[in-house]
Amino acid sequence: MSDAPYTPPRWPEVAQFLAQRRSTPAQLLRNPAPEGMVLEEILRAAIRVPDHGKLAPWRIVVHGGESRADLAALTRELGHGAGRAAEKVEKSATAFETSPLVISVLSTPQPSETIPLLEQQLSAGAVCLEMMHAAMAQGFGANWLSGWMAFDPEFLSRAYGICAPHCVAGFIHLGTPSAKAPERPRPELADIVTYRD
Ligand SMILES: Cc1cc2nc3c(=O)[nH]c(=O)nc-3n(C[C@H](O)[C@H](O)[C@H](O)COP(=O)(O)O)c2cc1C
Repeated sequence: MSDAPYTPPRWPEVAQFLAQRRSTPAQLLRNPAPEGMVLEEILRAAIRVPDHGKLAPWRIVVHGGESRADLAALTRELGHGAGRAAEKVEKSATAFETSPLVISVLSTPQPSETIPLLEQQLSAGAVCLEMMHAAMAQGFGANWLSGWMAFDPEFLSRAYGICAPHCVAGFIHLGTPSAKAPERPRPELADIVTYRD
């Protein structure tokens, strides 16, 4: 590490936010959820992500109550039909029903000779994280979930009319935290980072 003198951040609140950010588990999210202009502001921030080739390889579906009930019903139908663990199916379905707001971020990579599939998928992941951060900056809690539904061909076809390589990059659950989000262990920088001269 360099021993350059410490310079205070240009945007201390942003720096502090990033140093402390954490998800709120979906089961701790309550009403109100973002709506109207605040929601639009969150969505605008979410798509302001690095996007090699400007392909916009993502689509966003905002699920209101009826649509969340549909996602839950489809999860139960396909999950039980495939013999998946009943408890896990119920947990996923219930999360769709009880979260105040769910937003599906779809990874929709475009055919390209120059921009690899992975780079387009990474951009969809960036949309998910930016959406969470924009919502948190407005005081909301957010949780990025996936599960088998994110990749299941029938779920994708019936819920969104898409097929592979398109998939759900994330179900972003949003609402107001009902309790302080628990901290979790973070990796030590020294285990992750190597400095090279
Ligand atoms: C792509 C992706 C998918 C995830 N899917 C799930 C999931 O289905 N179920 C789950 O319990 N956690 C899932 N997680 C982890 C949660 O988002 C978890 O709350 C998160 O790791 C908390 O980290 P944070 O506090 O640093 O935001 C997923 C994370 C990512 C990045």
